Amino acid sequence: MSENIYAVEMEDICKSFGAVRANRNINFRVLKGEIHAIVGENGAGKTTLMNILFGALQPTSGRIRINGQEVTMSSPNKAIRLGIGMVHQHFELVPSFTVAENIMLGHESAGKFGAVDKAEIYRHAKELAEESGLKIDPYAKVGTLSVGLRQRVEILKALSCGAQILILDEPTAVLTPNESDELFEVLRRMSAQGKTIILITHKLKEVMAVADHITVLRQGETCGTLEKAKTNHMELAALMMGKSAAFSPLEKTGTTGEALLRVDHITARDSSRLEKLKNVTFDVHAGQILTIAGVEGNGQTELVSALLGFLPVASGSITALGTDITKLPVKDRRNYCSYIPEDRMTTGLDLAGSVHDNLIAGLHNRPEWRKGAFIDYAKTGRHVDSLIDAYAIKTDGSGIAASSLSGGNQQKIVVAREMNFGTKILIVSQPSRGVDIGATRFIHEQIIRMRNEGCAILLISTDLDEVFALSDEIKVIFEGSIVGTLSPDAVTPQELGLYMTGAKKMEGVSGTQEGGAA
Ligand SMILES: Nc1ncnc2c1ncn2[C@@H]1O[C@H](COP(=O)(O)OP(=O)(O)O)[C@@H](O)[C@H]1O
Ligand SMILES: [Mg+2]
Repeated sequence: MSENIYAVEMEDICKSFGAVRANRNINFRVLKGEIHAIVGENGAGKTTLMNILFGALQPTSGRIRINGQEVTMSSPNKAIRLGIGMVHQHFELVPSFTVAENIMLGHESAGKFGAVDKAEIYRHAKELAEESGLKIDPYAKVGTLSVGLRQRVEILKALSCGAQILILDEPTAVLTPNESDELFEVLRRMSAQGKTIILITHKLKEVMAVADHITVLRQGETCGTLEKAKTNHMELAALMMGKSAAFSPLEKTGTTGEALLRVDHITARDSSRLEKLKNVTFDVHAGQILTIAGVEGNGQTELVSALLGFLPVASGSITALGTDITKLPVKDRRNYCSYIPEDRMTTGLDLAGSVHDNLIAGLHNRPEWRKGAFIDYAKTGRHVDSLIDAYAIKTDGSGIAASSLSGGNQQKIVVAREMNFGTKILIVSQPSRGVDIGATRFIHEQIIRMRNEGCAILLISTDLDEVFALSDEIKVIFEGSIVGTLSPDAVTPQELGLYMTGAKKMEGVSGTQEGGAA
């Protein structure tokens, strides 16, 4: 007999939805008291597997053991009785009720509290919050709480029902980085108290930070369970994507040409006259990816706004393709620069508009696409179809609303449009933010392709992995100044970090001169 005590054992689990085989012969075991992560790309079958464990779905075949006992997980109520709790991606709370009332609603019958003893409900909620470290005001109305706090209520609800095994489905998707860190603290504490945690995520950084074991799912199958201490980010990514080439370096070809975008000593102030950009100077050449690296909030947003014409510069100049565009209105700058914004879903897309209209937005006035006063839909349609094809955008035709596509495919619309604008300068902000590994890889490939074709690429990124994967040259921005010009081959992530936090600067930065640009 093994010494290991398994809280959960799932054996040969299969589940089909019509023709879709969401889970195929999955074997999955979780040790008592551990934090076990399930990772996998969208659609890999993670939620399905956990809904089966929670009794919300019945498997087509397979067996489940809880603490060594074989069980039939016929319903969520049965799972709750067996000490399993699940926090779904979408919360199931009553907004007009208080925190404590919502916690009580989680019970199969509120009987535990007799004829609803108000004082007892609030005492119980307070005690649970203290014990678990999930700080919350039991009297607050749930409708007034932030998403992060509502999630706490969901977790407390599960704990209140006596959950010893807690399943969390992509809990950090709705949290800020700070809230995520706080959640991980709580999860570690619960695990130390002997509770078993199953955490679904596709963020590998989180996995490496909190998990003891990691199970990788790919296209409905498990690729096995790994011990955190014996694996790494790369191995996990390769398993998730199923291509050993997944993280081979992207091949760069071609030579660097002339400077297509020149930013010369620009200074800009925000609406309260605070100086947000101080003498910022750099050139981006044809066939080059220049990255502005930095901790968020050090002037990156203002720099992009100044380049696109939303924020006037107080001094200095911006030259694109040899033309001074410093005073050019926003719409005319579109002829020089394409732009992939960070929040692609809100500023990059008209969600109510069709896939077709989103893919040609900003381009519909092209003379070759016009028939007199009207758009030549036969021509734009062909262009749109070729983009849908080339970028593998999953959609039921180009006439449907962009809102009906998945998040990843909505992002692809913006990427496809901006990368086919016909401009030689591309500005990309945080391309990997909010997308899974496969989509990130795809976007990175497209950026490198454009670079190899001779475009000048300005990349704004806070993600060091991305900075090292893409940059030809790195400029670090700190408090509105460029404080370092670095080569990705000659700097370590640690040293780059020192520049990003202002602990290190190249000589002569604080004054009027950028300096150091070799
Ligand atoms: N209720 C359902 N009906 C039909 N297909 C479903 C249903 N739930 C999930 N699927 C399909 O099963 C596959 C796995 O989905 P899911 O378990 O949600 O993946 P993940 O959580 O890893 O993103 C996907 O192809 C999805 O479209
Ligand atoms: Mg899911």
